[in-house]
Amino acid sequence: MKPAVVVALLALCLLACAADAKKGPKFPPAPKGSVVAMASIGPTGTIKSNGKGTVRLVLGNSSFPHGLDVVLTGALGNITMAHIHMGNSTSSGPVRLPVLPWLVAPPLAAINPALSYKGSLNFMVPFNSTHIAAFSGVPNVTAEASEATFRQYLSQGLLYFNVHTTAYPGGEIRGNFACASKECAPVK
Ligand SMILES: *[C@@H]1O[C@H](CO)[C@@H](O)[C@H](O)[C@H]1NC(C)=O
Ligand SMILES: *[C@@H]1O[C@H](CO)[C@@H](O)[C@H](O)[C@H]1NC(C)=O
Ligand SMILES: *[C@@H]1O[C@H](CO)[C@@H](O)[C@H](O)[C@H]1NC(C)=O
Ligand SMILES: *[C@@H]1O[C@H](CO)[C@@H](O)[C@H](O)[C@H]1NC(C)=O
Ligand SMILES: *[C@@H]1O[C@H](CO)[C@@H](O)[C@H](O)[C@H]1NC(C)=O
Repeated sequence: MKPAVVVALLALCLLACAADAKKGPKFPPAPKGSVVAMASIGPTGTIKSNGKGTVRLVLGNSSFPHGLDVVLTGALGNITMAHIHMGNSTSSGPVRLPVLPWLVAPPLAAINPALSYKGSLNFMVPFNSTHIAAFSGVPNVTAEASEATFRQYLSQGLLYFNVHTTAYPGGEIRGNFACASKECAPVK
């Protein structure tokens, strides 16, 4: 991915994600009828990292797009990729949506050069059911069917956000998404 593209994505977020170190990030209100989930991410197991963060996943209503608001804090060196994967809090599984770099279809790719930050790194990426289908692992699946499966994984707590670095190619910080409302009910 060209640095210019990364910069463009980062710029998108300056509006959206002012982070407050004490209270956590403030996100703009999600549109009515959307499904909202949050993930707190950090190192797990024996991994040593100064990185952590909060990611909000919004599955927009029928007239509003889907998006991820990513707020990373602390420090991370040499981020190569970030994805949503399928798996529970202790298991690892396949990529279900690439986030950094933002891609519309396989193959997966790494950011080149890798990205480091200290303090905070905020960005927003849009996606839709076509992107979910492209990374569903199911050949010729319809966008609707793949999104239904994605929503089902989300409601079962089986989607996690994972940030890969050169130090930890399998992922340095991660965290599972949990819906903000019971049974992933849409925002009223
Ligand atoms: C979707 O969200 C927009 C923005 O909040 C709102 O104007 C619209 O009525 C919502 N549509 C549905 C179907 O809920
Ligand atoms: C990133 O990797 C390069 C090359 O291995 C290394 O020199 C540099 O210190 C790393 N940067 C950070 C912030 O970890
Ligand atoms: C996570 O998934 C693994 C592998 O499928 C399973 O063995 C484990 O029991 C699950 N853990 C939880 C907390 O559900
Ligand atoms: C999703 O966005 C892509 C552009 O990245 C577009 O080609 C596609 O038609 C969109 N799909 C839907 C269902 O809106
Ligand atoms: C998927 O669609 C393509 C083109 O329509 C077709 O050639 C291919 O056989 C299909 N694959 C499967 C697994 O159904």
